[in-house]
Amino acid sequence: MVKDSSEKPAEKARAVQQMFSEIAPRYDLLNRLLSAGIDQRWRFIAAQAAIEKKPRRILDLATGTGDMALLLKRLAPQAEVIGADFALPMLEIARQKARKLGLEIPFQQADALALPFPDARFDAVTIAFGFRNFADYDQALAELYRVLAPGGRLCILEFPPPPKGGFGELYRLYFQKVLPWIGGLVSGNPSAYRYLPESVERFPEPQTLKAKMEQAGFQTRYRIFSGGIVALHIGDN
Ligand SMILES: C[S@@+](CC[C@H](N)C(=O)[O-])C[C@H]1O[C@@H](n2cnc3c(N)ncnc32)[C@H](O)[C@@H]1O
Repeated sequence: MVKDSSEKPAEKARAVQQMFSEIAPRYDLLNRLLSAGIDQRWRFIAAQAAIEKKPRRILDLATGTGDMALLLKRLAPQAEVIGADFALPMLEIARQKARKLGLEIPFQQADALALPFPDARFDAVTIAFGFRNFADYDQALAELYRVLAPGGRLCILEFPPPPKGGFGELYRLYFQKVLPWIGGLVSGNPSAYRYLPESVERFPEPQTLKAKMEQAGFQTRYRIFSGGIVALHIGDN
């Protein structure tokens, strides 16, 4: 089980990898159920930002079951799209989905904190709902900066801490009470769906993530949408 932020990075990484491996078979179903399908719309917005500069080589990191990689390949069929993740059962589902759709996407196992790619290998990197889970944000950003070619673009789609005010409180109620209950019931892994709201509460505010990205070398801007529950950070190097 993934514990709190006091956990050592290597332990957190192992626990996250195990958790996603366990929930892989139910991951897509729960995504659609818990977000009422709007998660695909969020990925679409991020994918459009990622392909704006017509990248030839795109990495979808923390690709999970591959939804973002599949979308990128559909939107930019000429581009080489690679999906990478450290949880093999998630990748296996991504591979099956790509095969079914006849899309040519290599899915490979990789750790975001030590990417097995040479410097300047990609023109764009996307990370949808994966960055929050990394055990060391600064190390991940350094790796992302390294594998992006000059002029490249990083797009991070994430759940920031819930907004303040009435809507934020309602959302918190849903996120902290309803979601873990449904998630636990359907996935058979209640702790995984308790981890989700906990990790969101601990995640840096958008302004702080922007500062971290700038420290790593990215020129960064962000936008927040869906009432403040999702943020897209765009970093150009
Ligand atoms: C919430 S899922 C997101 C999956 C997918 N991007 C999506 O949009 O549905 C987070 C993914 O991040 C992966 N992940 C977490 N830490 C990672 C790391 N250090 N290296 C590679 N993948 C990682 C997990 O295995 C999991 O598949």
